[in-house]
Amino acid sequence: MTKPIPLFPRELQVLLEHASTDHQRNRLKSLLQTLSFRRTDEEFGLKHGATWKMVNDLRRVAKGEGVDLEALRVTTSFVEHPELPSSDTPIDELLASKRARFSRTKAAKDAARWRKVRLRGGGPMGLLCFGDPHIDDDGCDIEALERDMKLVKETDGLFAGNIGDSINNWVGRLMRLHANQSTTATDAWRLAEWFLKDLDEHWVFWLLGNHDAWNDGMEVFSRMGGLVKMDDWQARLALTFDNGRECRLHAAHNFPGTSIRDKNWGEKRADAESYGAAQIYMAGHLHTAAMQCVPCPNRGKPIWYARASGYKAIDSYADNLGYSRQTGGESLTFIFDQDADDEMGFVTGFLNSAEAVDFLQFKRERHEGRSRQHGVAA
Ligand SMILES: [Fe+2]
Ligand SMILES: [Fe+2]
Repeated sequence: MTKPIPLFPRELQVLLEHASTDHQRNRLKSLLQTLSFRRTDEEFGLKHGATWKMVNDLRRVAKGEGVDLEALRVTTSFVEHPELPSSDTPIDELLASKRARFSRTKAAKDAARWRKVRLRGGGPMGLLCFGDPHIDDDGCDIEALERDMKLVKETDGLFAGNIGDSINNWVGRLMRLHANQSTTATDAWRLAEWFLKDLDEHWVFWLLGNHDAWNDGMEVFSRMGGLVKMDDWQARLALTFDNGRECRLHAAHNFPGTSIRDKNWGEKRADAESYGAAQIYMAGHLHTAAMQCVPCPNRGKPIWYARASGYKAIDSYADNLGYSRQTGGESLTFIFDQDADDEMGFVTGFLNSAEAVDFLQFKRERHEGRSRQHGVAA
């Protein structure tokens, strides 16, 4: 057995940094393994003493550069660690996976943007959009919510939208507020599911507000199994009717921007930011109601800006900040008369759901009368 020559591993490792060719580096690595000049010479087919000379040459170079080799000659013992395989995904696979993921994400986002939602049945149609429900809150006017749900279920041609914040779903330091409400977290989720399923086939859109998304709420909502596709915060829809007429609706839990002089400031800003992409801009979240219709001759149609106050009629947070209590405007209802002669008659908005339903029923009866007159099925 060859007696190890007192070579110093730490010194050899520093000399490795001073090697100028791969051949030199490979010989030094062999020397680190064998700690034998002779065996390294044999491995590389060199004459005896060649590796010893190379090491001495490198020592001179390192010394010339100010390296204190003596300080590195502390021990001839060292620990040799095995080379282990990495559990990491190779970078090429990682990049390929990320490219495929982005492609799927973009395709899904693009398809959802201005997706065509067809309202079938013919004649005038309505869309009742529930403002922030906060169903589990003790301040939620549950009777008003049930009243509007009943209108949707019992009115022919009336569909539904949800602007978000279906439940409180308190998070972080706000979780202490669960102690101030009589509905438990479990019952809150049961109420949300009841709200979804009770109007299942009527939903045109369902937004997830900030409260909904807290505490993995997005995941819980998406697995409730309703018919409607749930949207995170906002949805851009192209509502289409049997005769091909279309109305673009941009619904968001909230749009950025507020003004004490104009409660629809955020919706108008969204209109400006989107360069007039939609005909209706609607939001919730701030628990204030307002609705405006602005005829836009250059766009050939009136534009609607609307905000629902929601069903949280008693709000201690708003009371403490000195905001006035909202009455009315819990929901926003739009009536679409696809057979209207002009754009002004095509879309009509209401802050009062009962009035909107009366208007829809009048329009549907008139449509049926006209259809009978012309011998066409309504
Ligand atoms: Fe809210
Ligand atoms: Fe909100």
